[in-house]
Amino acid sequence: MSEQDKIEVRPIKLKDIDDILSVDGEIRAVGNVITYRNLTTEYILFAGHGKPPQRSPASYMRSLTGDVAPLLNFSFVAEVNGQVCGFILGQVARLREGVTEIGIIQMIGVHPDYQRKGIGSKLIRALADKYRSEGIKVIRIGVDHRDKSLLGLVEHVGFGVDRLVVYSMIV
Ligand SMILES: CC(C)(COP(=O)(O)OP(=O)(O)OC[C@H]1O[C@@H](n2cnc3c(N)ncnc32)[C@H](O)[C@@H]1OP(=O)(O)O)[C@@H](O)C(=O)NCCC(=O)NCCS
Repeated sequence: MSEQDKIEVRPIKLKDIDDILSVDGEIRAVGNVITYRNLTTEYILFAGHGKPPQRSPASYMRSLTGDVAPLLNFSFVAEVNGQVCGFILGQVARLREGVTEIGIIQMIGVHPDYQRKGIGSKLIRALADKYRSEGIKVIRIGVDHRDKSLLGLVEHVGFGVDRLVVYSMIV
């Protein structure tokens, strides 16, 4: 990627789904996914929307069922010269603690060949602007403390550690 290459961040469209799953695959092929190791983009996209195709799908898009609007309302892709190379999937959550609605970052990914070019930051800022325009004032992301790239990114764009600590137990 050169200085002249143009990064464009825009709202996701249904037709981008195959591209973002392909970017997801490239990221996972590098093998250092930490925070999202057990949470795949495929799972987020298809939860409640049918079954992902089993083998070398020609198109994931055609396999999605039901109302996918809530899935797409708070999600963006980044393109470099018209090629999708990053994405962010957001969702609004309603919680009882203090604030009623918060904006969640469910997943973010930038193709390994395009990392450290400011794309992840642009994706988060686009989502933050969208949440702000909808009156949502707090954004939350869960990050595995060993995930240096995601930690570096969220701290870079201005996130701080919340007072809420998440405990988990395998049952
Ligand atoms: C985390 C991730 C989204 C960052 O995207 P990015 O486009 O490279 O981020 P940016 O270029 O906007 O980085 C902004 C800042 O974040 C910090 N940062 C980003 N990557 C970092 C890393 N690997 N180590 C430390 N800090 C990092 C830096 O402060 C950076 O600024 P700098 O490049 O001027 O030093 C990207 O590394 C990624 O996709 N990782 C895999 C995430 C994943 O597992 N997704 C699920 C599978 S799809």
